[in-house]
Amino acid sequence: MAVPVIEDIFWVGVNDHKTDLFEALWPLPHGISYNAYLVRDAKTALVDAVKKNYSGEFATDLRALLGNGQKIDYLIINHIEPDHSGAIDSLLSQYPDLCVVGNEKTLRLLKEFYRFPVKTLLIKDRETLSLGKHTLEFFVTPMVHWPETMMTYDQTSKTLFSGDVFGGFGTLENGIFDDEVDLGFFAEETRRYFANVLAKYSVPFQKALSKIEKLETNAIAPAHGPVYRKDPKFIRDLYGRWSRQETEKGAVIVYASMYENTKKMAEAVARGLAENGVKEIRLHDVSRTHLSFILSDIWRFRALVLAACTYNMRLFPTMELLMNFLENDHVENHLLGLIGSYSWANTALLALRDFAKKGSWQFVEPYVEALCAPTPEVLKVCQDLGKNVAQNLNSIP
Ligand code: FEO
Repeated sequence: MAVPVIEDIFWVGVNDHKTDLFEALWPLPHGISYNAYLVRDAKTALVDAVKKNYSGEFATDLRALLGNGQKIDYLIINHIEPDHSGAIDSLLSQYPDLCVVGNEKTLRLLKEFYRFPVKTLLIKDRETLSLGKHTLEFFVTPMVHWPETMMTYDQTSKTLFSGDVFGGFGTLENGIFDDEVDLGFFAEETRRYFANVLAKYSVPFQKALSKIEKLETNAIAPAHGPVYRKDPKFIRDLYGRWSRQETEKGAVIVYASMYENTKKMAEAVARGLAENGVKEIRLHDVSRTHLSFILSDIWRFRALVLAACTYNMRLFPTMELLMNFLENDHVENHLLGLIGSYSWANTALLALRDFAKKGSWQFVEPYVEALCAPTPEVLKVCQDLGKNVAQNLNSIP
């Protein structure tokens, strides 16, 4: 159902509860919205579309809003990823004169994804397009998180259509606007979205955010998650902090354990942290908690302790997968403690240390290693590691 956002602008998005894994990777326990927006003026512009599976619902909502006779003049593609462009062939069959607006990279990807002839309008960074009363200005913001990504700013209503930027997981049938929804819930789901999907591109994010820093915004309208009309600064600040990798006082302990020996060591670290005043502790079994939630916690808290056993003479596979993501995301500004265990090949701790050497971590000693089951002495060293992490955390203002 179309919902008015601000003068002449309507939310025409859809809520997806059917996709279990976003990008075939990230769980969606609370679904996701694909937000599209219609600007009604002398010329009508649609900003972004929705995923292909929702073409029918999308078309019905547009028809209900526009009536049968009214056409859509422009489809502005802020982001060509198919969760926002999949409905384009259905749109074209309904509105054959539709002109697709995008930058050079967008139009190139459009051709490769959809391979049908379509009327296009090539725009450049900071170019404007007048719809009548509304003037749209385009801000090309590459690599947030694809090469073609851009934002569209309506100068008239001061609405920023920001694409994936400022977006998050979670559907919107219980409220579309920041003044209608539980913002605590969406802040969590938005951080998880950022940490899973966008985090690798923190530096381009900072560039994009500084490019739009001076824009006055009455509303921020992202392509996923709530529309911020009461307090757009809320989401700008969150994304600013995450892209600068600003973390909170707290620790994430992630362990890989087959017979609960490594788990005991991880728990001893938690004990050392708790006894020394750290209240925010998140303990995860990397084989049982999806990486999506672990990465989100890591993006939130300053300290990380990794504890893993050896498996087939290598690092335990689920821990190896976490290493891949952390390396790829260029995680910075974290304290790091390491624990390994083995029965007959002492490779886990070596592999963790090799991983850590490639990043910019602040190590907290001691490194701990156990042969088979940890002795009380080894558990005491784990507790000391927790204490040292806590002391480091406590010294941060
Ligand atoms: Fe929401 Fe990058 O697609």
